Amino acid sequence: MASDIADPSLADLGRQRIDWAETHMPVLASIRERFAKERPLDGVTVAACLHVTTETASLLRTLKAGGATVNVCASNPLSTQDDVTAALVRDEGIQVFAVKGEDTDTYFRHIDAVLDEHPQLTMDDGCDLVSRLHQERPDQVGEVLAGTEETTTGVIRLRAMEADGALRFPIVAVNDADTKHMFDNRYGTGQSTLDGIIRATNVLLAGKRVVVAGYGFCGKGVASRARGMGAQVYVTEIDPLRALEAVMDGFRVVTMEEAAPEGDIFVTVTGNRDVLRGEHFAAMRDGAILANSGHFDIEIDLKALGAMAGSRRGVRPSVEEFLLDGGRRVLVVAEGRLVNLGAAEGHPAAVMDMSFANQALAAEWAVRHGATLEKRVYGVPAEIDKEIARLKLDTMGVGIDRLTPEQEEYLSSWTVGT
Ligand SMILES: NC(=O)c1ccc[n+]([C@@H]2O[C@H](COP(=O)([O-])OP(=O)(O)OC[C@H]3O[C@@H](n4cnc5c(N)ncnc54)[C@H](O)[C@@H]3O)[C@@H](O)[C@H]2O)c1
Repeated sequence: MASDIADPSLADLGRQRIDWAETHMPVLASIRERFAKERPLDGVTVAACLHVTTETASLLRTLKAGGATVNVCASNPLSTQDDVTAALVRDEGIQVFAVKGEDTDTYFRHIDAVLDEHPQLTMDDGCDLVSRLHQERPDQVGEVLAGTEETTTGVIRLRAMEADGALRFPIVAVNDADTKHMFDNRYGTGQSTLDGIIRATNVLLAGKRVVVAGYGFCGKGVASRARGMGAQVYVTEIDPLRALEAVMDGFRVVTMEEAAPEGDIFVTVTGNRDVLRGEHFAAMRDGAILANSGHFDIEIDLKALGAMAGSRRGVRPSVEEFLLDGGRRVLVVAEGRLVNLGAAEGHPAAVMDMSFANQALAAEWAVRHGATLEKRVYGVPAEIDKEIARLKLDTMGVGIDRLTPEQEEYLSSWTVGT
């Protein structure tokens, strides 16, 4: 099947924006240069199920430079940038199956199209590709050498597959690399989530009560950036440690029941379902804005909200208004899907530079070692993580100290005390 994209005439714009993103991705550029010389992915067909953005284009170009044949589909129906898909098809010889706003059937048809190319390496963001491959095409699973997974939710699903004995090839959990989740999830999601809410609603954050559900790396980023813009930030959690951390970081930790009648803006980043549900909608003030930045559109119970609403209508691009009893309006951004990708451009390229450097190096590692690996979820090797941090610092012009021989000895000895 040939590529399925929205509009080939957008290729010039896509080219321009991919080039712009690449000026902020020097680590990936240095890997691409090495890949072009060493061709570590020669002969490998890659199935990538990722948010098809400018930064992803840069990753796909890197895989191709390394010798891979690359086919890509979207990992979310709303996150595709149609100009990028057009440029990838016209300029890069990459097959693309992704259209912004595609329905669920098309979404899975596109995943199938990528699987039809019989990949040896999977590159997933949320585990839909790997899950579909295992469930619908058991005969094809044996062709796959290894895979990589980009996000927290996907890693949780893959660990569940491993625990069930269902996982049939090794996966590298890119999300678990420090140079991924400590930066992408915190600084990337932190900034781009607010960017999505602001672009969609043009709301002033200063003085607003912002409720952040989940204080993981993403939640920490959203909470601290909302505070930085002058909001009063409330945090909800189910984990006592994370809740305590939020308290000591100076946030007001409350239950969602307490937060519901107070919040002006609600952001879910838990990776869990029904975090905002009927009882909460019933208590919300007029004009409350709801957004989700967790991987799937399950964190806000939109079915319940729809059932409670007398009517619903679009009031701005990416904003739907639900009219509840007493004339209260509740506004949902980007259909409750990842707000930073649905209503903005996703993470800034400078942070995806590290996430996708991990993807590229993890792919190289997986191909090199795939045959000897077990059918389980692996972390990114520590030396890759360190190398990416070192490269990123270099490109930022930041130098750090080196241990003196005496310090090295001190740190490795147990005999020297007070
Ligand atoms: N928007 C993006 O671009 C983006 C980027 C990275 C990750 N993600 C996704 O965001 C989600 C969170 O990722 P993370 O890395 O912060 O995960 P995490 O596991 O570090 O944090 C999630 C937090 O949510 C809490 N939680 C779970 N259920 C809850 C509930 N009912 N109420 C309140 N808190 C609850 C957990 O205790 C945990 O502290 C995942 O779905 C991940 O895939 C999105």
